[in-house]
Amino acid sequence: MKGLILSGGKGTRMRPITHTAAKQLLPVANKPILFYGVEALIAAGIKEIGIIISPETGEDVKSAVGNGERWGIKIEYILQDAPLGLAHAVKTARPFLKDDPFVMYLGDNLIKDGVGPLVKRFQEGKADAFILLKEVANPSSFGVAQLDKDGSIICLEEKPKQPKSNLALVGVYLFNPMIHKAIDEIQPSKRGELEITDAIQRLIATNHRVDSHILESWWLDTGKKDDMLEANRVVLDEMTDVSMLGTFDDASRVSGRVHIGKGSILKNCVVRGPAMIGDDCSIENSYVGPFTSIGDGARVSHAEIEHCILREHCQIIDFHGRIEDSLIGVNVELTRSNNKPVAFRLMLGDDSKVEVV
Ligand code: DAU
Repeated sequence: MKGLILSGGKGTRMRPITHTAAKQLLPVANKPILFYGVEALIAAGIKEIGIIISPETGEDVKSAVGNGERWGIKIEYILQDAPLGLAHAVKTARPFLKDDPFVMYLGDNLIKDGVGPLVKRFQEGKADAFILLKEVANPSSFGVAQLDKDGSIICLEEKPKQPKSNLALVGVYLFNPMIHKAIDEIQPSKRGELEITDAIQRLIATNHRVDSHILESWWLDTGKKDDMLEANRVVLDEMTDVSMLGTFDDASRVSGRVHIGKGSILKNCVVRGPAMIGDDCSIENSYVGPFTSIGDGARVSHAEIEHCILREHCQIIDFHGRIEDSLIGVNVELTRSNNKPVAFRLMLGDDSKVEVV
């Protein structure tokens, strides 16, 4: 069984953050989203993973993930010239996939439970494809499945205006090589993409067996800022591996599950977990509230930060205000020249400079 992770695409819904970074490399609890997928596949026993990359962000993905050596597996990169759809990505990966069965994992998806039991179920069963479904409140934003009363799939539709159910297709799929024939038989959709949903529908229409499983645990598609914050919240909420590697002074109060990375120094701060502070951060006279993660090398002073992702090396200095529900890019500098308390909700791309006066 091989793994195929899709980390191409344009990430338009996450601009301006994705002008300078691949959306799959954005951090959830200070770890790139993409790593959760890689680790889920490795935990399922998969040792050969192909990662689809785009010309724009491919090099960044390669240097962040590497060749797999750190996990003792092999990672290959497959360049998709343009984001022409998930099925097009599979087509592009054909020389890597050969005729092996594979798990396809969308690089911006996070699921709580691993894929190990699903891989086992697929390998033991006789299905040509196995899909995961999850009940959602906004099915029109996803691929949608209609099941009969026995739970068999009647049909699948990609982002239907009038969804036939509230069961969304989760971005983890298991396929045997039959999918390649189905992909060859479909046409691009109205949005000009070769849809994997249409290819699976083609399998169903040609009497191939497609099994499904409805996920009970959480699943997150991190397409937009609020999805990222929700992913960060959920992962921090379940974080058990917390270490106090940095230091905080006597005037500081740290409560709940809080990770403080090595070399980080906190002075006169209140930190309420769950929260994650990376390495070499300097935080002074500030409040760090629940569901916040702060990347390596960040500097914060006189600020209240809650339910936020602050990326590496951002500087929020003498801010005298509250920042919540925000995603702040790498190297952002945020300062203020007066100290009247205010609250902000922000999405700032890498290298932004903001001065509130
Ligand atoms: O997240 C689940 C949903 O993912 C499913 O419910 C939908 O049926 C499925 O089509 C897909 O929809 P999205 O619109 O969310 O897909 P998105 O364009 O965001 O792409 C998903 C991932 O695949 C993302 O990491 C980018 C990558 N990608 C995307 C395209 C279109 C590629 O690598 N190549 C591509 O050509």
